[in-house]
Amino acid sequence: MKKHLIIIGFMGTGKTSVGQILSHTLDMEHLDTDVIIERDRDSSIPDIFKDYGELTFRNIETGVIEQAVQNTHPSIITTGGGIVLRSENRVCMNKFGWVFALDAQPKEIIDRLQSDTSRPLLQGGTLEDRVYQLYDKRKPFYQFADYTISTSHLSETQVADQIANIWFNLMKSGDAK
Ligand code: S3P
Repeated sequence: MKKHLIIIGFMGTGKTSVGQILSHTLDMEHLDTDVIIERDRDSSIPDIFKDYGELTFRNIETGVIEQAVQNTHPSIITTGGGIVLRSENRVCMNKFGWVFALDAQPKEIIDRLQSDTSRPLLQGGTLEDRVYQLYDKRKPFYQFADYTISTSHLSETQVADQIANIWFNLMKSGDAK
């Protein structure tokens, strides 16, 4: 059942970029839940939040991850930072994939997201307060991952290399086929 390579993690931890690199390295299709949502709705994430609210976004997100894991061939699935909040999403990801959590220090996340305007949950108040608050609240939700990679002081390529090595070993041991 576990066949996809699924990447979770807080906003700004590099999930999508690492997924793109891995897609080349491992020659696997890359699906990104936010990209699928924006494409299906023909709307940006901030507009979906603005027009329909977070609950609707979360409902769409759940539908998208449920659909993505049905992809017949093993794929790389990258996700939005809040996908872990729903237990049904966690159960689904854990069942159909090897889950890799990317972690970074809040300070680094703040540096990376300094001029970002595309993340509705970071708007309002200071970026520092928003990140620290959300990071603390969400940290436990990432702990169901099979592997956690600390991205501090690593380039996206180095993070992708670490994941690829683990993936090769999983393949060798026959766990991911
Ligand atoms: C969200 C993270 C975003 C996007 C949406 C909500 C979150 O994705 O799904 O803005 O709740 O953490 P990234 O993690 O790719 O920024």
